[in-house]
Amino acid sequence: MSKTYAPPADMAANAHVTEADYDKMYAASIADPTKFWGDHGKRIDWIKPYTRVKDVSYEFGNVSIKWFDDGTLNVAANCIDRHLAARGDQTAIIWEPDSPDDEALHISYRDLHKATSKMANVLKGLGVEKGDRVVIYMPMIPEAAYAMLACARIGAIHSIVFAGFSPDALSARVNGCGAKVVITADEAPRGGRNTPLKTNADKALAHCDDSVQALVVRRTGADVPWSDRDHDYNALAATASDDCPPAEVNAEDPLFILYTSGSTGQPKGVVHTTGGYLVYAAMTHQITFDYHDKDVYWCTADVGWVTGHSYIVYGPLANGATTLMFEGVPTYPDASRFWQICEKHKVAQFYTAPTAIRALMGQGDDFVKKADLSSLKLLGTVGEPINPEAWNWYNDVVGGGRCPIVDTWWQTETGGHLMTPLPGAHATKPGAAQKPFFGIEPVVLDPTDGSVVEGNGVEGVLCIRDSWPGQMRTVWGDHERFEQTYFSDFKGYYFTGDGCRRDADGDYWITGRVDDVINVSGHRMGTAEVESALVAHPKVAEAAVVGYPHDIKGQGIYCYVTLMSGDEPSEELRKELRTWVRTEIGPIASPDLIQWAPGLPKTRSGKIMRRILRKIAEDDYGALGDISTLADPSVVDDLIANRMNKG
Ligand code: WTA
Repeated sequence: MSKTYAPPADMAANAHVTEADYDKMYAASIADPTKFWGDHGKRIDWIKPYTRVKDVSYEFGNVSIKWFDDGTLNVAANCIDRHLAARGDQTAIIWEPDSPDDEALHISYRDLHKATSKMANVLKGLGVEKGDRVVIYMPMIPEAAYAMLACARIGAIHSIVFAGFSPDALSARVNGCGAKVVITADEAPRGGRNTPLKTNADKALAHCDDSVQALVVRRTGADVPWSDRDHDYNALAATASDDCPPAEVNAEDPLFILYTSGSTGQPKGVVHTTGGYLVYAAMTHQITFDYHDKDVYWCTADVGWVTGHSYIVYGPLANGATTLMFEGVPTYPDASRFWQICEKHKVAQFYTAPTAIRALMGQGDDFVKKADLSSLKLLGTVGEPINPEAWNWYNDVVGGGRCPIVDTWWQTETGGHLMTPLPGAHATKPGAAQKPFFGIEPVVLDPTDGSVVEGNGVEGVLCIRDSWPGQMRTVWGDHERFEQTYFSDFKGYYFTGDGCRRDADGDYWITGRVDDVINVSGHRMGTAEVESALVAHPKVAEAAVVGYPHDIKGQGIYCYVTLMSGDEPSEELRKELRTWVRTEIGPIASPDLIQWAPGLPKTRSGKIMRRILRKIAEDDYGALGDISTLADPSVVDDLIANRMNKG
């Protein structure tokens, strides 16, 4: 039995959702989703109210997901305009720059309204219209939020590309969605170093149509190369009108595309639409974090990931919250930065990833203890399973044993939290995502035959029985791939790609991906992407990539590489391949270990047996299983003998 931690008494009494509420609301949400979501859809403002709530088919070959589909609204009006009367002077966004010596900004809802409207008018001036795509490749600066909201204001669809992605990755995404404009910045300061973002964008745009324009925000004022396609945002904004009426958008019009990795092929463009997404982001933000007026809320993610979309920008702003945006990294100037920021801005809810917690835990408690963290009320984690040691440190040292931890399990595809303990309702268990959110019906399936595993104390693959408003609607430009990926393996369910355990109490524990997706420092990566980057190198004949347990990153990237005949392994080549992958994809895909493999374990039909490669990388030879079906079983001995020392 794992130890549980009851909610603090005042939270149990005053939370948006208490223990008694949860059971009642959950039962109601499952019994009658139309009634439940019909009521909660009113959390946001509609231009034309919906009369239809839910219209969903999970039938393979005919998958269609619609929520509130005869309603119209505007997301920017919901995140800004509707708060102006009551909260015009309240801070919407606190911006904390990379260097603690530079001044933080407090952007009020009124300021946000002006800035977003200006950006919207600048985009219109570049010819961006409703339904057009705009790629955002930006540092964590307020203009990134303005850009998202400006697109929403005019009904354009944004696609954010994390600023750590390479020019190649950027151009693939610009071309993938046929973007008209790329919004970027001159440079991106992080951890005291400036990434030449504009130069990277230039390299990417060299592989895009000439008609694609660039809108460049001046962050550092560095002298950057300039061409005919470039527009200076600061110059245009200086004269742009700050009045831009919000466009009327249908609930099912796309709000954004966000590329994410899967088990096969190249990243796919996850499409989220307008009405259901906003309802779900707003509701989960308020309830999971038990957000109350005047709280300062901080999510440390980057807007390049879905967490930044739902829980830095859309959810908090739809709720009229004060949301903190941080440009820098947890260890600059030193490992106390997160805690200094919590103290400085009196953060109440703090939401980060297990990888950051583990890294900071390794730096010792003094960095935490020198900050006054008495403003904290709640802690959250996201992105990967959290190990009990990190959970306990987070709870004891950061939270002082006073702050409930919400371990939120969800995905780019789900738009918002699908499972998490609620801080006023549930006694938490270190490492468990625990309880489904309202309207979410988890189902555990037997991976071998797809049958439903009933009862408690069981394990299997995790599917969801029905839809929820925040669910993705399609893969951009490839609905068939959407159906194949999520609805073909287990018919009639949404397949999450994760495994899970339901414990004796009926609580859920996420056990990790069951497909060829790995999770490196909370960043999701397809092993196929890294493999295709490796084989693009002229000296590489074949490559297989798997994850292995890594103390800080959760999983590290282990590559088995077979060289072209005539090419010799060397330390230099290893370095070269690492740099190669960083340039092809980005630093987050940098291989941790590269093992030279004269041969890979293959079946007689030529299929690589990844199960074996995973076991070797995990240092778990006892469990290799049957290798007699291999075309050449002797390759396994060689791989084991030359396994990389993880050190
Ligand atoms: C993993 C991030 C365990 C999971 C929001 C999922 C988690 C993938 C948790 C999605 C958690 C996310 N506990 N595992 N609390 N949260 N994951 O799309 O494997 O970047 O499928 O979305 O991260 O990653 P993505």
